[in-house]
Amino acid sequence: MPWTVEANQMANSRTAAVTAPAILARKQGDIPLVMVTAYDAPSARVVDGAGVDMILVGDSVAMVVLGYENTLQVTTDDMAHHVGAVARARPRALVVGDLPWMSYHVSRDDTVRNAAKLVRAGAGAVKLEGGRKRIDAVQAILDAEIPVMGHIGLTPQSIHALGGFKVQGKQLDAARSLVEDAVALAEAGCFAIVLECVPDGVARMVTDSIPVPTIGIGAGRHCDGQVLVYHDLLGFAAPDHRAPKFVRRYASQELEATEAVARFVADVRAASFPSSDETYHMTDQMADAFGLYGATVT
Ligand code: KIV
Repeated sequence: MPWTVEANQMANSRTAAVTAPAILARKQGDIPLVMVTAYDAPSARVVDGAGVDMILVGDSVAMVVLGYENTLQVTTDDMAHHVGAVARARPRALVVGDLPWMSYHVSRDDTVRNAAKLVRAGAGAVKLEGGRKRIDAVQAILDAEIPVMGHIGLTPQSIHALGGFKVQGKQLDAARSLVEDAVALAEAGCFAIVLECVPDGVARMVTDSIPVPTIGIGAGRHCDGQVLVYHDLLGFAAPDHRAPKFVRRYASQELEATEAVARFVADVRAASFPSSDETYHMTDQMADAFGLYGATVT
């Protein structure tokens, strides 16, 4: 089917800001949900302008923007900083703030305070990782009237416990456990659940077992929606970086940006930048007064 930016915006009837209850209601609909990450105002404008339903200010910021090897290095204050930048773009899409590692693991009070920090920065919902063992945290945040998105399967904050970035739910027990986690999160009140890196059959079982939308990343097409990381889908990656198989690249922006800056470097070195049109000129009268005859050369 042909697409245009306008058609994408119409598809989610761009009239009012997207809310968590509106996302939950989409479980009944037949148009898949779309979420893309963003970490600052320009990327928020890009994804919102493209018509996404949700913007995830993911803790993936640690890896794709801040250059860390995993997501464990960012704090709630770091996340609030990026949520604020995204929110200041005033997107129509729901802004989901990712609770970082150790922000919901210590105590109920701490968890609620950290979730509130992201809401005060501009998030309309928060996301946390983990299944049944996170139900207390989910309930505490919901008690503070903050919508919560769950995240199960490959949970990058558990990288050390999982032993790497690996597909989850490949064995029968693990698959059953994922379904039980999803049911528990849905029953606790999550308005949507991210399913990361699980076989498509498992994603289908989870999706069919719960009354809230599943948002897949590396989970195949049997989910109620899909999410990708901004820098992955736009091709911001070192040339030697092998993207995971679930990433579809729609542009090569790292290459395009490098080529553009290389042209600027060449123009400066060849003295062809700046041109006269790109320059503020003194009046002839002032140039004369300073003895700079010919300063307004074209
Ligand atoms: O932080 C993130 O970008 C995420 C997505 C991969 C779902 O959690």
